[in-house]
Amino acid sequence: MRKMKRLTWDETKITAFQEALVSWYEANKRILPWRENTEPYRIWVSEIMLQQTKVDTVIPYFNRFMTQFPTMEHFVNADEADILKAWEGLGYYSRVRNLQTAMKQVMADFSGVVPNDLTTILSLKGVGPYTAGAILSIAYNQAEPAVDGNVMRVIARVLEISEDIMKASTRKIFEEVLYQLIDKENPSAFNQGLMEIGALVCTPTKPMCMLCPLQPFCEAHKNGVETNYPVKIKKVKTKTKELLSIIVVSEDGKIAIEKRPENGLLANMWQFPTIEIAKKENDEVAKLQFLHNYGLEVLLEEEPIAHIKHVFSHLVWKMDIRVATLKSAIPNENWYFATEEEMKRLAFPVPYQKMWQAWQEFKGE
Ligand code: ADE
Ligand code: SF4
Repeated sequence: MRKMKRLTWDETKITAFQEALVSWYEANKRILPWRENTEPYRIWVSEIMLQQTKVDTVIPYFNRFMTQFPTMEHFVNADEADILKAWEGLGYYSRVRNLQTAMKQVMADFSGVVPNDLTTILSLKGVGPYTAGAILSIAYNQAEPAVDGNVMRVIARVLEISEDIMKASTRKIFEEVLYQLIDKENPSAFNQGLMEIGALVCTPTKPMCMLCPLQPFCEAHKNGVETNYPVKIKKVKTKTKELLSIIVVSEDGKIAIEKRPENGLLANMWQFPTIEIAKKENDEVAKLQFLHNYGLEVLLEEEPIAHIKHVFSHLVWKMDIRVATLKSAIPNENWYFATEEEMKRLAFPVPYQKMWQAWQEFKGE
């Protein structure tokens, strides 16, 4: 069952919304080269160009493209080098390669006529739900939504939709409400009106609500929370650190431990001597680093006794645990050799507790 409860507007309100949007668009639309006519070939090219590129940048490219490749036939017969040259500076060059692949398919399978049904058009290379909706509505006047970032921003504000727009599955929620909202008489003006409001009025940080034809319908504006929408949950990139931690036993059977810095992650807790070192580095580098950081001269046993992975909120530790034989040591205020009794009174973070456990098991073998 599809959930349809989000849009609670009655027909009168929906019609009023459509009228406000479409009449605003007709009065305020920018004059853009791809709006001169609705030839599907031109609409398709413009929508692909506009996907990752701003309108102002696209205009001269679109004009040159149409001069160089006036019809789909011209374009599909062009060399790859020439189509890349025509795209030069727009970036995301797979867009133009996919476009040529898709248009070749249209020439071969559909006699050069851009398909006018959703399923077929979606089967073409590089045509996703947004492009499909844009072509079907603008070129064929079909009541298909075209949901891009601008449209999501406007609709999220109007209806206070709080789903995370960074999630791929969220686009469907917008499509569902737009199927209910879209003006079946004029889907082209409706969709382009939403795009235009997103670009010119309902801007990301300073929406101009006083000039907005949708203001009477807008929940976020009514509640003074326009910029709380759309909700974007930033994925924080998690960093990975490769660590080497060692068990070093002194002559009298104590273990080398160190106190972590008083600030930052796991502040003031205790751990075993640890260096950050990529797995691919050799042991000479590791030995030098222990010497430099700790004044610890050691011989590293080759085989790790354990691998420990610990996930913090934005950080992953990948630890190799190895045993080291002590050759000489100059302890300082940051580290010393402790007895097991002393260690029991000190706080060790979980990965180091696991390390201790691994050492107990290794010794017991
Ligand atoms: N952005 C994406 N499609 C557009 C269009 N047809 N007009 C203006 N901006 C757009
Ligand atoms: Fe955006 Fe303001 Fe218009 Fe609402 S009223 S759609 S927040 S510009």
